[in-house]
Amino acid sequence: MDTPNTVRDAGGAEAGRDEEEAVRRALEEYYRAGKPPWDTGVTPPELVALIEGPGEGHGAALPPGRALELGCGTGTNAIYLARHGWEVVAVDLVGRAIELARERTEAAGVDVRLLHGDATRLDELDAPGPFDLFFDLSCYCGIPPHRRDAYVTGLTRRAAPGARLLMFGYGPEAFDDTFSGVTADELRARFSGWDLVDVTPGTNPVPTFWFTLRARDA
Ligand SMILES: C[S@@+](CC[C@H](N)C(=O)[O-])C[C@H]1O[C@@H](n2cnc3c(N)ncnc32)[C@H](O)[C@@H]1O
Repeated sequence: MDTPNTVRDAGGAEAGRDEEEAVRRALEEYYRAGKPPWDTGVTPPELVALIEGPGEGHGAALPPGRALELGCGTGTNAIYLARHGWEVVAVDLVGRAIELARERTEAAGVDVRLLHGDATRLDELDAPGPFDLFFDLSCYCGIPPHRRDAYVTGLTRRAAPGARLLMFGYGPEAFDDTFSGVTADELRARFSGWDLVDVTPGTNPVPTFWFTLRARDA
């Protein structure tokens, strides 16, 4: 028999599913309509600095290992990482994005394991890890809040000791809905088992941030 709580929980779960469905449909529509605005084909300097080293004696390149990209779009950064010696798995929720990424990786002659699926449901995908690097360019900040803990769990389970997560995200002020966006405080609270080691504001006209997190050694 339904108690008031089970009725309320069922309602919450349904609302959550509706929210996920609305996000997915909006993303699919972007890819259906042509080239999405974020699909610049340019690897951000923040990723280049991490992978190749910031240059001029400021630090060393990161030795290649295994990388998982969350929300890879049409594959610009997965291709970049593969070209720099990384073994790359890249995931996107939108089938059309993965199709385009597949065409682009083939044209580039690089090997990337491209997976159509949900970054918050990694157990359903063939992405066991462990990974030394996770890269997220504006995926997490659009994930409905009720799926974000599952995202964190998926990464934590797949993190090699000392793994890094480099994440770019928009602040909540950049959106006109009630749930999108990410803050340093949220990441500190949600990513238990990780340290937020750097927060660098982006250069966009709205609030954006580059976050670096490190998985603590188990
Ligand atoms: C703003 S776009 C950025 C795409 C790509 N990182 C780039 O910079 O070109 C966000 C991407 O994350 C994907 N995405 C959003 N939610 C996702 C989820 N739960 N799982 C996997 N991909 C997701 C979207 O389909 C979209 O391709």
